[in-house]
Amino acid sequence: MLNVVILAAGKGTRMQSDLPKVLHRIAGKSMLAHVIDSARQLQPDSIVVVAGHGADAVQQSFAADTQLQFVLQQPQLGTGHAVQQAVPQLLGGENPTDTTLILYGDVPLVQSQTMQNLIDARAQGMSVLTEFLPDPTGYGRIVRNAEGAIQRIVEHKDASADEHQINEVNTGIIAAPTAQLKDWLARLDNDNAQQEFYLTDIIGFAVQDQVTVSAAHPQFGWETLGVNSRLQQAQLERLWQGEQARRLMEAGVTLADPARIDVRGTLTCGRDVFIDVGCVFEGEVVLGDGVQIGPNCVIKNARLGTNTTVHAFSHIDQSQADESVSIGPFARLRPGTVLGDQSHIGNFVEVKNSYFAAQAKASHLSYIGDAVVGLRVNIGAGVITCNYDGANKFKTVIGDDAFIGSDSQLVAPVTIGKNTTIAAGTTVTRDTDDNGLVLSPKKQEQKADWQRPQKTK
Ligand code: UD1
Ligand code: CA
Repeated sequence: MLNVVILAAGKGTRMQSDLPKVLHRIAGKSMLAHVIDSARQLQPDSIVVVAGHGADAVQQSFAADTQLQFVLQQPQLGTGHAVQQAVPQLLGGENPTDTTLILYGDVPLVQSQTMQNLIDARAQGMSVLTEFLPDPTGYGRIVRNAEGAIQRIVEHKDASADEHQINEVNTGIIAAPTAQLKDWLARLDNDNAQQEFYLTDIIGFAVQDQVTVSAAHPQFGWETLGVNSRLQQAQLERLWQGEQARRLMEAGVTLADPARIDVRGTLTCGRDVFIDVGCVFEGEVVLGDGVQIGPNCVIKNARLGTNTTVHAFSHIDQSQADESVSIGPFARLRPGTVLGDQSHIGNFVEVKNSYFAAQAKASHLSYIGDAVVGLRVNIGAGVITCNYDGANKFKTVIGDDAFIGSDSQLVAPVTIGKNTTIAAGTTVTRDTDDNGLVLSPKKQEQKADWQRPQKTK
C-alpha cells in the first residue's frame, strides 16, 4: 500500500506572483502536475496534496482529477506540521511494507525512477533522498555516526560549526513506513531555531526506535532542484529542455541546436527526424520517420507522417498530415486539418477543419475552412472558402481533379464537380457540374481619356 504526500502549502513569496507557486509552469505544465504525473507512474493507492497558500486555486486547477485528495494546512507551521495534516488520509499501516512517500510541489522534476529507488532503499526501514553538494548552505545536513549510519538531520539554522562542514544534504524527499510515520509525526515539537515542526526530526525518532535509515540518491542533479524564484524557474526550464533534447537525440533525432528546442508536452519521433532551430512542440506530437521540421515552427497536438516536411515559420494545431506532405513556409493549420499523402500547403495558406485528399495543393495565400478537397485538386493563389455568413458555418466540397483559378471565392455551402475548372476571379455561389469551365465574367473595359488624380497643394 503506497501513499504519496505532496507538500504544496508554502507561499512562494519570492515568485512575486498572484498565482500559487506550485501552479507556475515548467515546460508548459504546472510544477505540481509534474510531481503528480511522476508519482502516478508508481501506481500509488493515494495521492494527498497538502495545500495552504492559494489552496482554492490549487485545488481548482486539479478539479477534474478525482483520484487526488487535498488537505488544508493553515497556518503553515513547518514541513512536519504539513505532513501531519495528511495523516487522516493515509491508507494502510498494518503491513510493514506499507509506505508513505513525501514529495514537494516546488521540486517538480524528481523522476519516477528515483522515487522508486528511494522506496526500494527503504526495505523494512525508512529512506531519505540525499545529495552531496559543494555548497550545502541552507540545506538540512545528514549526520552519520562513525560507522556511516544515518543518525539524524540537522537544519542549517540549528547546525553547529562542525555540522556546517557536512556536504551531504537532505533533498527533503523521504519514504517511511506508514504506521511508524504517524507515530513519529505525533512526537514532533517546534523547539528549534525556526520554531517549526520539522519533518526532518523523524529521522532521529527512527534511529531511537531502531529503524534503519538508508539513503538513496537522484540519478540527475536537476531532479531535486526546487523553485523559489522566477530565476530558478527559468534555470530549471532550461535544464529540463536540455534533458528532453538529450533524450530525443539519444532516440535518433537530429536537432540543429539542442539548446533551441522547447518541448511542452510529449514529442515522439520516428527514425531520422530533423528539427531545425527555434521550434516549439506542445501537447502530444508524433513525427513519423524522416520528418523534417524547418526553423521557428510551432506544432501542437499533431501527427505528421513519414517524410513530411514542414518549412520555416509554420503553425500547426490539432492537425494531421499523412506521408510526404509539404507544409509552409508560413502555413497555418488550425484544428481539424487532415492532409493526405503528398498534398501541399504553401505559404500564407490557412486551413481549418478541412480534409485534403492525396496530392491536393493550395500553394499560396488562401483560406480553406470546412472543406473537403478531392484528389489532385489545385487551389490557385488567393482562393477563399466563404464558409461563414456571420452566424453559421457551411461546407465546401471540391471534386477530384478540379482546378480552382486564382482569387476565386467559393461561397459555401457549395460543391464543385470533378475535374471542373473554375476561372480566375470567379465567385462560385451555386454547385457546379463535373468537367467544363465555370466563370462569372466581369467585362474588362478601358477608358482612354481617364486621368490619374493629382495631389492637391
Ligand atoms: C527543507 C528541509 C531541509 C532540506 C530542504 C530541501 C525541513 C525541516 N527541512 O527545508 O532539511 O534540506 O527542505 O530543500 O523539512 N511546506 C509546507 N508547509 C509548511 C512548510 C513547508 O507545505 O509549513 C512545503 C513548502 O511549500 C515546500 C517544502 O514544504 O514545498 C519545503 O519547505 P521549505 O520551507 O522550503 O523547507 P526548507 O526550510 O528549505
Ligand atoms: Ca526549500
